[in-house]
Amino acid sequence: MFSFAFITDPQIGLNSPNGLHAADSDRGRMDRAVDFINGAGIDLVFFGGDHIDVIDSEEQRDLFLAGAARLNVPWYGVPGNHDQHPVSLEHEATPKGFLLNHKGSFFIGVNACALRGDLGPEPQAAEWGNLRAAIGAVPAEATHRFVIMHWPLFILHPDEEDSVYNMGMSTRHELAQFFRESGITCVFSGHRHQDIDIVWQGVRLIMSIGTSAWHHYPEEASFKLVTVFDGGFSVRRVSAEAPPADQHE
Ligand SMILES: [Fe+2]
Repeated sequence: MFSFAFITDPQIGLNSPNGLHAADSDRGRMDRAVDFINGAGIDLVFFGGDHIDVIDSEEQRDLFLAGAARLNVPWYGVPGNHDQHPVSLEHEATPKGFLLNHKGSFFIGVNACALRGDLGPEPQAAEWGNLRAAIGAVPAEATHRFVIMHWPLFILHPDEEDSVYNMGMSTRHELAQFFRESGITCVFSGHRHQDIDIVWQGVRLIMSIGTSAWHHYPEEASFKLVTVFDGGFSVRRVSAEAPPADQHE
């Protein structure tokens, strides 16, 4: 048994009305998430993309990396649509994709921007190749296969129209079939800034609002804490908001 954290859309700079270093900033919420994780016996952390808001901001990039560097456990990340510029990807700890085995559970990180076709047909085909190779390398006896990707397959139902929030119709169906056939345990996504939990074709699809801001209706900025055990896993939400003044320790 072990636990990992999934933090998506820290999006440093999006929701910092009193400056990038204020307590109510994106970095402030990320710091609270990191503080919790450092004291919670968590083995590793995954960032789900949109680590910064302005795609070529070195200041935001450095703030994110400095915040992640406060973690006392290993961390990995996948790019979101705000992370495509090389300035956001040059750090070795934010690869475009990854495959790792932690205590017999496998984690596959995907560049969903490429998979979605946003970077053109060749990167899309290449990312499909990366995804198939990564999942193909997972031993058949593995019991947990987690996919980390910024974009969700869809938001509410699999027949919804293509939008900036979902995967295109053909890609989402192709992915769902591939994930089902590959025995994927759960796909963790962000991008939409909403907590949404879906099961489609037997595959669990979990979106997290992330630590920056809600977009669609008021929700608490938060991240996910996942505990993996024999035969299953549990997911709960941890707030990244500042507690009310009278609850400060
Ligand atoms: Fe996004």
